[in-house]
Amino acid sequence: MAQHVRQAVILVGGKGTRLLPLTERRPKPALPVLDKPCLRYLIDSLAAAGAEEIILACGYRSDVLEEAIGDGSGSGASITYSYEDEPLGTCGAVKMMEDRLDDVFFMANGDVFADIAAAAEAEAHFASGAKVTLALATVKNPCEYGIARLAGDGRILEFKEKPKPEEAFSNVVNAGVYVVDRSVLSRVPKGAFFDFSKDLLPILMSEGERIQGYALSGYWRDVGRPSDLLGANLQMAGELYGDFSWSGKRTESTTIVRPFYLGEGSTVTGSDVNAAVILGGCSVRDSRIVKSMVMGGCEASSAKIENSIIGEGCRIGAGARIENSVLADGTVVPEGAEINRGEVFR
Ligand code: GDD
Ligand code: MG
Repeated sequence: MAQHVRQAVILVGGKGTRLLPLTERRPKPALPVLDKPCLRYLIDSLAAAGAEEIILACGYRSDVLEEAIGDGSGSGASITYSYEDEPLGTCGAVKMMEDRLDDVFFMANGDVFADIAAAAEAEAHFASGAKVTLALATVKNPCEYGIARLAGDGRILEFKEKPKPEEAFSNVVNAGVYVVDRSVLSRVPKGAFFDFSKDLLPILMSEGERIQGYALSGYWRDVGRPSDLLGANLQMAGELYGDFSWSGKRTESTTIVRPFYLGEGSTVTGSDVNAAVILGGCSVRDSRIVKSMVMGGCEASSAKIENSIIGEGCRIGAGARIENSVLADGTVVPEGAEINRGEVFR
């Protein structure tokens, strides 16, 4: 009989500093992708892979996350929360809950937005007999990730976290979704800051333990930077609403080039949108919105918004131009203002 992994730990305790100011009031996994916390998609895919118990390892602003995610009713998995007083790192946080963990469990970074075939990854884990299996993705710029070099049978021969450009021997990277044998936690000190990929993986590799790679085939993103959050939103808009007919009262006299998403209670009139995600409760009039996301409850009229993310509840005055920028929640942009901060490309 196939072995079943029934437990998952998701790490959601980071501060999300690369997404400031959007993470001033909420942790990164609570940031929305089409009006749902981005963590919801990861929870749903782990639940679909058979995870019945999901433990969220929380830190920064756990209150916001609990409110957004709840106890999992409706997702097919029960969701519980574990809290650190001080950040213990991605491995220290898991060590804390060692006593309640199964022999083999899933572990995932909470900012991963991916089409993960976790059940197939678990199957590969049991088949290889590895101590840890890492999902792998291929990216153009590997320096922000952990990179891996693999043998023909998928065994990881070399791993380096955040290499310098001259050290980047591979563009195959750790996708942040693991299958883990609890026994590896015996190498982790209790109550100390310890990182999974920087600290534990090198120890396991130096001891000759088998670490296996499992290549993901669908989309994958770490929504750690504004451009990734925007990208995840536009991608889901294309995937889920690619054929949806938006014509009607809520999009009056508006030219729409997809991908496009308009949240509940939002209206766009007399405007021109080209690759845009407008979350719920917004009112947009006589504006041009290009490659941007407008978060919930915003108002804009006669504005031009390009390559930007507008935080929740912003007011954009007539004639304003916002380009390459991320605006904090509740920003009031005066009439005719020009904002171009270049942040989205950072
Ligand atoms: N509970 C807890 N405690 N969670 C934490 C802590 C902590 O001290 N530190 C970080 N986290 C959470 C973050 O909230 C995030 O969801 C996840 O752990 C990963 O942290 P990041 O800070 O986003 O790591 P990264 O993106 O730089 O690198 C990691 O992920 C990459 C792929 O997304 C590494 O695992 C890389 O090897 C990997 O390629
Ligand atoms: Mg990350």
